[in-house]
Amino acid sequence: MAKLILTLLFLLLSYFSGSLTLGDDQKTWCVAKPSSDENALEQNLNFACPIVNCNIFNEGGPCFLPNNSMNHASIAMNLYYQSKGSQFWDYSFGNSGLVVLTDPSYGSCIYE
Ligand SMILES: *[C@@H]1O[C@H](CO)[C@@H](O)[C@H](O)[C@H]1NC(C)=O
Repeated sequence: MAKLILTLLFLLLSYFSGSLTLGDDQKTWCVAKPSSDENALEQNLNFACPIVNCNIFNEGGPCFLPNNSMNHASIAMNLYYQSKGSQFWDYSFGNSGLVVLTDPSYGSCIYE
């Protein structure tokens, strides 16, 4: 009984401290929500790019095409997300991001 209570307490604490992740080996990625407006995407780019290296989607980079803010914001948001250890509590793009379970990489554009 005490063990059960401790387990529940631990889960509760994990939940509130935000450290509860999906599973140890389940990798997750972050992408821009398809319904996000241009403004939100630009804001996310401006937020993430001074922190992470956004060169991969500059002209000539492997992720430049398609050349639109939906694609570029998704990559920048994911780089930020991965740099923070893929924790849900660090997932701070308002309502304009999605955590996905499938690798969004395409062609030579590899999502970290
Ligand atoms: C990429 O998109 C931006 C913004 O729409 C545009 O200004 C730029 O000319 C585009 N570059 C190329 C090479 O298409």
